[in-house]
Amino acid sequence: MIVHGAYAVEPWRVRETELNLDVLAQSESLFALSNGHVGWRGNLDEGEPHGLPGSYLNGVYEVHPLPYAEAGYGYPESGRTVINITNGKVLRLLVDDEPFDLRYGRLVSHERVLDLRRGVMERVCEWCSPAGTRIRVRATRMVSLTQRSIAAVAYEVEAVDRRARVVVQSELVANEQLPPSGGDPRAASVLQSPLRPEQDFAHGHRLRLVHRTRHSGLRVAVAADHVVTGPEPTTTVCESHPDLARLTIGSVLEPGQKLRVEKFVAHGWSSTRSLPAMSAQVDAALVAAGDGGWARLADEQRACLDDFWACADVEVDGDEEIQQAVRFGLFHVLQAGARAEQRAIPAKGLTGSGYDGHAFWDTEMFVLPVLAHTLPEAVAEALRWRQSTLPAARERAAQLGLRGAAFPWRTIEGREGSAYWPAGTAAFHVNAGIAHAVVHYTETTGDEDFERDTGLELLVETARLWRSLGHHDHRGVFHIDGVTGPDEYSALADDNTYTNLMARANLLAAARAVERHPKEAERLGADSEESASWRDAAEAMHIPYNAELRVHEQHAGFTRYQRWDFAGTRADQYPLMLHFPYFDLYRKQVVKQADLVLAMYTCSAEFDDAHIARNFAYYEPLTVRDSSLSACVQAVIAAQAGHLRLAYDYTAEAALMDLEDLEHNTRDGLHIASLAGTWMALVAGFGGARRAGGTLEFAPRLPEKFSRLAFRLLFRGRRLRVEITRQSAAYALLDGPPLTIRHHGTPVALRPDTPVDRPVPPPVHRPAPEQPPHRKPNTRFGPGKRTAGVTRRGR
Ligand code: BGC
Repeated sequence: MIVHGAYAVEPWRVRETELNLDVLAQSESLFALSNGHVGWRGNLDEGEPHGLPGSYLNGVYEVHPLPYAEAGYGYPESGRTVINITNGKVLRLLVDDEPFDLRYGRLVSHERVLDLRRGVMERVCEWCSPAGTRIRVRATRMVSLTQRSIAAVAYEVEAVDRRARVVVQSELVANEQLPPSGGDPRAASVLQSPLRPEQDFAHGHRLRLVHRTRHSGLRVAVAADHVVTGPEPTTTVCESHPDLARLTIGSVLEPGQKLRVEKFVAHGWSSTRSLPAMSAQVDAALVAAGDGGWARLADEQRACLDDFWACADVEVDGDEEIQQAVRFGLFHVLQAGARAEQRAIPAKGLTGSGYDGHAFWDTEMFVLPVLAHTLPEAVAEALRWRQSTLPAARERAAQLGLRGAAFPWRTIEGREGSAYWPAGTAAFHVNAGIAHAVVHYTETTGDEDFERDTGLELLVETARLWRSLGHHDHRGVFHIDGVTGPDEYSALADDNTYTNLMARANLLAAARAVERHPKEAERLGADSEESASWRDAAEAMHIPYNAELRVHEQHAGFTRYQRWDFAGTRADQYPLMLHFPYFDLYRKQVVKQADLVLAMYTCSAEFDDAHIARNFAYYEPLTVRDSSLSACVQAVIAAQAGHLRLAYDYTAEAALMDLEDLEHNTRDGLHIASLAGTWMALVAGFGGARRAGGTLEFAPRLPEKFSRLAFRLLFRGRRLRVEITRQSAAYALLDGPPLTIRHHGTPVALRPDTPVDRPVPPPVHRPAPEQPPHRKPNTRFGPGKRTAGVTRRGR
């Protein structure tokens, strides 16, 4: 938990008002900058102290063996883990020969700001060296959203009250030493010195290092250029070694004088390009970045963010913490996906090495739905990445004796990285998640080229998987047995309702796509006979239901299991998977994360209001939220079922997951799905937004703490703004042709420049469901709640 960190609650910034080394690693994740291609954790410029140094290039990994006590057919033999590439952030400083190190001397003040509109991290601090020389450091850092390979730092040192001899060492550091990992199995295993040097170069203000990973054979090139401004004489010397390139800048500053170093860092990697080609690539990127310099990069960054916020901003009146958190979350979702360009969007983005840098279903089910309405081109790119990994997914399906494609549960480059079968590879639902994202994207954008060139193939191959994974029983009913749904406290279950409903949607979407694109389908070998078999399976899909309890079963037989002994489980025994054997979790009614409840959101048309209310009331007391992917989904359904206070508390949990380090692992990287889930909780929860085929529906209702909620979204070439108060909702079409949406079931025709107001009906009152003891979300309704304008201090 960020127990000591002081974060001001401001609408457009995350401002840390003092530095606390105990929570340095957490703050490095919060202040991470990325564009989806390059990721820099918020490490201090001087490199030390650090919690977890992190510089990543999306797609750069190293291979390591996956040892098994007992081998089994189809187990992945090797794993892949994200590694630190050459660190270009480092700017060490010496003041009268003493290193600027915050652990020594006196730190007079230290402030860091993540500016969500300018897309930069700023740091201002004043430090008094052990010998009494006072300096001020002002550093601004960015990872460019417009120049994909570029990150940059503007670093300024000022002498405060006496003459100071300062030396700045701007470095590129490869194979940086990493602290040992804490033993949490979810954190990345440490791979020391994964880079083999190939080239080092230093000339003038230019530095370059090229390395190759030992086992995965990826070539990584990082180069830097500098613009130095200081009083005469300011001198520079450069040097390079296999793992280090350095520009040393020396100057003598009178009080009030400054030395400014602008550092531009270019990154590139390739599995195929030669050493000269990679060197040339990063050099060229530096020339492009240098042209126009820092000012142009900063202007482009601001313009890019202005465009994003014009389509994506969410305004919340009545809770400043949630206001800040939703923008913080959207900013990180943007950073994770903006320039990933046919690479994965990992569960932690590029903010840390948690989960070994792997991507899961989190991407398609949590992140892409948000991007589809805010930055749709990023969704197309992420799905094209999935398409590019089809060869590995087909191979995996064949290995498992299945048809079509079996996409991996966790991966960096497309191959299965899960060493664990029950809660890993058996989670076939990831495939339906990919299909869901394809349908959501095409229906949200109307991008037919994408459907034909990418969507169709993904739909066909995943439909084939479902058809071969399931079977018709003697009565013709279609079952998908022995799979793991989203709830990882049930495994190898028969007919997981979420999986079956999602597979049904997948099969039907594939059949429709084949009809729409017969020529392309033929090339994939898909004909009307095959698509008819998908329809048959979809129509005969078994959806387990307990008629006595009148609730849907999470999977066949789930409701007859023994209930978990919640009363006998202590607060410190959560998360359960770290304190109880899996076999016992598997055979009891206990739910790690929204599963059936998620189905009610993603397959909303399959459930009427009465079932939504009853199912929610049934699963709430069983759901322990041992995954950060749960709260946002529970928020959406709680809101729909009329439990607005509960929905509000869940929204806050999703929103503050990292700002308050609620799962105690923010140090390893941010929970990108939960951050995206904040948008989901607000827009789909309180806004009641659902996509119904080619149209949008809203059923807004605000919790009592919100006086207003406004959001923008993109839909089929239009930009919409929805503004909700407790009494009414106003719909405005900001750009694009007329559109008819629905408000609480009634059609509303929207024309440009003519906002339409509709009254918000009161919610149906139902008794609030219970959660397991110790697992209620923190309530935001009690006394002592922080209010507007306060400084955030961890709970
Ligand atoms: C959750 C998965 C999720 C993964 C990565 C696990 O704890 O149970 O659903 O995909 O974390 O976020």
